[in-house]
Amino acid sequence: MKVLSVASEMFPIVKTGGLADVVGSLPGAMAPLGVETRTVLPGYPSVLKRCKRAKQIAELNQVIGETVTLLEAKVDGLAILIVRHPSLFERDSGPYTDQHGTDYADNWRRFAVFSKAVAMIATGAIPGYRPDIVHCHDWQAAMVLTYLRYGDTPAPPGVLTIHNIAFQGQFAAQVFGELDLPASAWSLEGVEYYGGVGFLKAGLQMADAITTVSPTYAKEIRSHEFGMGLEGLIKTRAGAVSGIVNGIDTEIWNPGTDPALAANFDARKLKNRSANREAVCARLGLRTDNGLLIAVITRLTWQKGMDLVAEAVDGIVASGASLAILGSGDRGLEDAFRGAAERHPGRVAIEIGYDEKLAHLMQGGCDAILIPSRFEPCGLTQLCGLHYGCVPIVGHTGGLADTVIDGNLAAMAAGVATGFHIAPLSAGTIVEAVELAGAAHADKAAWKKLVKNGMATDVSWNASASRYLDLYRSLVAGNGAASGT
Ligand code: ADP
Ligand code: GLC
Repeated sequence: MKVLSVASEMFPIVKTGGLADVVGSLPGAMAPLGVETRTVLPGYPSVLKRCKRAKQIAELNQVIGETVTLLEAKVDGLAILIVRHPSLFERDSGPYTDQHGTDYADNWRRFAVFSKAVAMIATGAIPGYRPDIVHCHDWQAAMVLTYLRYGDTPAPPGVLTIHNIAFQGQFAAQVFGELDLPASAWSLEGVEYYGGVGFLKAGLQMADAITTVSPTYAKEIRSHEFGMGLEGLIKTRAGAVSGIVNGIDTEIWNPGTDPALAANFDARKLKNRSANREAVCARLGLRTDNGLLIAVITRLTWQKGMDLVAEAVDGIVASGASLAILGSGDRGLEDAFRGAAERHPGRVAIEIGYDEKLAHLMQGGCDAILIPSRFEPCGLTQLCGLHYGCVPIVGHTGGLADTVIDGNLAAMAAGVATGFHIAPLSAGTIVEAVELAGAAHADKAAWKKLVKNGMATDVSWNASASRYLDLYRSLVAGNGAASGT
């Protein structure tokens, strides 16, 4: 089975969030099942730098009036195809925004050209290569399915995975004329979306199967609260929508071998975690005491409930816990956490920025990880937390609800809990959940059970890789999408 995976990010080459982790780790999980994946990426500077020995394999003309070159490379065993177009993709700043954090004004054109080039690959632009499935991730790749639908060559079945329905690739109506699509594409069944052009919307309309990254999120996006305007379409396509929970790469995230840790450990050598705890405290200037040490590793945004954490900080500290925060995002939130660190020296610390190694060390050394998301399609940090004995305290939503077993009285008594759910979500309930976790932490046996349950949870891709395989097979066999969640 040959799968052409299409995305705008892939770990370890270009990453702004969990999308990159998934796109980078799923191919390795599918390979033992006989699925050969090639991943197409835009030729960002980081991609070209990482793929220095990339070989040019084709030149495509007439890609919405542009010429692009296709390069091929291997990175850490991953087969990569690169769509190169210097003026569209070789920019100094991030994949989507300029140095001021503003979206590039021509994002519609960048990802339309990218998607059209991928549609050409999917229909034979590379001699000898025809994928059985095209698997597109998020709005940046969603237009591939539109170009395939309106093209004149028979196309392979297409899967669209929604990693976050809040990001939709919505543009003004005027861009329609520049997309090189037939006039008939300007319709409710095409790209038209609330009077403008919707890239994700169009992909959802065209996809043979729609997946999202957890069963609960697959249900949530049918509602007004979570669907962000697309709930009607999701409901219309309900038979094609399913939720497949993400896994993590348990070779990269292996506490037994992780080079970012001060001391390696496993479920039988939990004592070694204390060296990591000390390393975290030393690095961030936190006091080492016996209270609950809580990690926050995230984009500092409203989605992640970080405004609520800023409000809850004093209560969290009053409960006896300490906070180690790693992240960047909204300037106002960065300032709020800097202020909290000044108010509570030794008890609250913030490292502004992105630091993969520190993220690993914090997972291996902190007692708990706080993830009070307002919505969370899947979430990966709770999976890493479970695997590293860092007990997740999570919002009751999306993949967080699906992957963490709440430590309510019944679950604690039955010895099956792996973390704590916060519901409903507010600054007050965050403090209550931290107090509950603090009480459990003070009971050594109860805490050890929580940690061990988490570490025994299967957070690998194994189960979900089989679900993707089933889906691919059903599409190739022409049975349509697997229905339900
Ligand atoms: P999202 O993609 O919505 O940001 P996820 O939980 O799916 O959330 O994925 C976030 C990924 O980014 C995880 O791999 C997490 O460890 C990582 N991450 C987030 N913020 C930071 C940071 N400041 N430093 C290092 N890693 C981070
Ligand atoms: C998005 C979501 C996150 C998910 C990730 C990978 O960034 O916000 O919940 O884990 O994609 O699927």
